[in-house]
Amino acid sequence: MALFTADSVERVREAADIVEIISPRSDLRRVGNRWTGLCPFHDERTPSFSVNQHDKVYYCFGCEAKGDVFTFVQEQEGIGFGEAVEMLAQRYGVEVEREKEDPQEEARRLRRDRLTGLLDRAGTFYSNYLWDSPKAAKQRDYLKGRGLGEQVLRDFGVGLAPSDWGALLERAQRAGFRIEELRDAGMVRKGRQGGYYDAFRSRIIFPIRDRRGTTLGFGGRRITEDQKPKYVNSAETEIYHKSRILYGIDQARAAIAKAGRAVLVEGYTDVLALHQAGIKESVGVMGTAITDEQVAVIAGLADQIVLALDADSAGQEAMLRAQKIAEKRRMRIAVAAMPQGEDPAEMLAAEGGPERFRALLDGAVILQEFQVDMVLNATDVTSPQSRDRALAELAPVLGGMGEGATRDELVRRISDRLDIESSLVMRRLGEAPAVAPDRSGSRSGPGSAPEDGPARRRPAAPLTPRERRERALLSMCVSEPESGRAYLDRLTPAHMSSPAAVRALEWLRGHLGAPMQDLPPDDQELTALITELVARSEPVSPNSMEINFLQLEERRLEQGIKDAWDDDVIRVRLTQERARLVDHLARLEDVISSDGTATPA
Ligand code: UTP
Ligand code: MN
Repeated sequence: MALFTADSVERVREAADIVEIISPRSDLRRVGNRWTGLCPFHDERTPSFSVNQHDKVYYCFGCEAKGDVFTFVQEQEGIGFGEAVEMLAQRYGVEVEREKEDPQEEARRLRRDRLTGLLDRAGTFYSNYLWDSPKAAKQRDYLKGRGLGEQVLRDFGVGLAPSDWGALLERAQRAGFRIEELRDAGMVRKGRQGGYYDAFRSRIIFPIRDRRGTTLGFGGRRITEDQKPKYVNSAETEIYHKSRILYGIDQARAAIAKAGRAVLVEGYTDVLALHQAGIKESVGVMGTAITDEQVAVIAGLADQIVLALDADSAGQEAMLRAQKIAEKRRMRIAVAAMPQGEDPAEMLAAEGGPERFRALLDGAVILQEFQVDMVLNATDVTSPQSRDRALAELAPVLGGMGEGATRDELVRRISDRLDIESSLVMRRLGEAPAVAPDRSGSRSGPGSAPEDGPARRRPAAPLTPRERRERALLSMCVSEPESGRAYLDRLTPAHMSSPAAVRALEWLRGHLGAPMQDLPPDDQELTALITELVARSEPVSPNSMEINFLQLEERRLEQGIKDAWDDDVIRVRLTQERARLVDHLARLEDVISSDGTATPA
């Protein structure tokens, strides 16, 4: 996709109202010239999220999430920058222009549009055939008999491919598509005699779409038992990559973001049945083991995945892999074990199915707990070899978990069941290589209150007192440019804690009027720091500015005293200066201790 012009992006930014955009995700209250609320990026009970409406930036003191209108939409919707610009442009009625593309890029985009256009029309053709053709009556009845209503079938664009060898081929060619395009889109195959024929014939068609609803390929289910295989899926093409696909993501995206979790099932029909039952955060992995790319798609929207997979099809190995992927992405995976030989679609079609399925979701346990129980259930506790094997199997499962109540509980369970002392279990588990620290914290399943969930972002390293004072003061300089100017002049590089802080100081000296404008794009550290300073909501009073400055001054003197270890004259002078300063500070702090506006040291 061609980039939007910088001017277009700025016009969108100008038109966008950041408070309006964030409000659905956080109940913002005005405090002075800022807005604050509970952070939408991590779980918290007291507000540490601050929004600057004028400069259109946000900052969280808790998890250090920060950014502008575009990053907010990107993070919340799980989309890229270009898409975020497009979305906001549409919302605020701004016309945007694209940068002139390089010709190669343009050719690629046009080709992609052409192939997805073809797939889209093919989808429409199949869907029309299902709903309108007298020859499709039996299949309409079949779907209805499985409990799938017209609404959900239409939402997902389900169709039927006729039995002819060239139904799609002929129509597409008549519509101006070349045979090579049909082939490259995976819609036709080459026969032994060299001619082409439709890839999907006599099959119920499930269009496979990306999160924006663009059709990338199809899955085709047999309509008679003798057809093999049961499903024919689009071959890998330049636009269809199975490992990246989550079936139904276009329909589920918003629900996943809202629910904070995705329910992962295996089949097309499972996804349809779940959506129909109102569990719209459901997507399908289409019969394969979960991939890193699929988890990445979900990670942009939510922090939990509930696997509703057939208990035995999801083998130990696949689960360990899922666990590793999840840990890497800081996601929590829970398992809602389906009863033997039943899949979600079957369960939901039966009497009381939706209730049973919801109960399964509520009873989902974290992946490690599920694995422990599975291994323990398969262990013959009377056989030492079997118990040994169980411990060996469980080592990698628990090895990656951080210390905490969850792990303790699981260790206890293993110890009880295998009749091995906890300490010995721990030692055996400790022999496994650690994966990554577990962040699940509590034992609660995914059905519990959202506060129990892991934060989506790793909390940032705590700031040192010096960094806190420094940022507080610079932020006050931004909010109160008039008095701030004087402090910016008094501050020197020796007051600052890092090179980035020195650059921020210099930047503010030159750009105090509009600090967010024209930030150098290659200095991300500076951009992040300035964004934070602008978005912070710091209570300002002349005294609090002075105190923060003096505290930084004290730090500077301390450093000077250390550096002057071999120069008595300077050391004594600095020591006296510091004594006077400390005295002065103490008196100032007395004065304002009642209004509490200074930053705690
Ligand atoms: P299932 O065999 O469980 O089928 O395969 P299903 O989804 O329950 O279909 P119904 O309910 O019998 O109509 C689960 C998923 O695995 C993939 C498909 O995505 C299917 O939905 N699969 C299965 C294939 O890709 N090819 C196959 O031959 C079988
Ligand atoms: Mn099924």
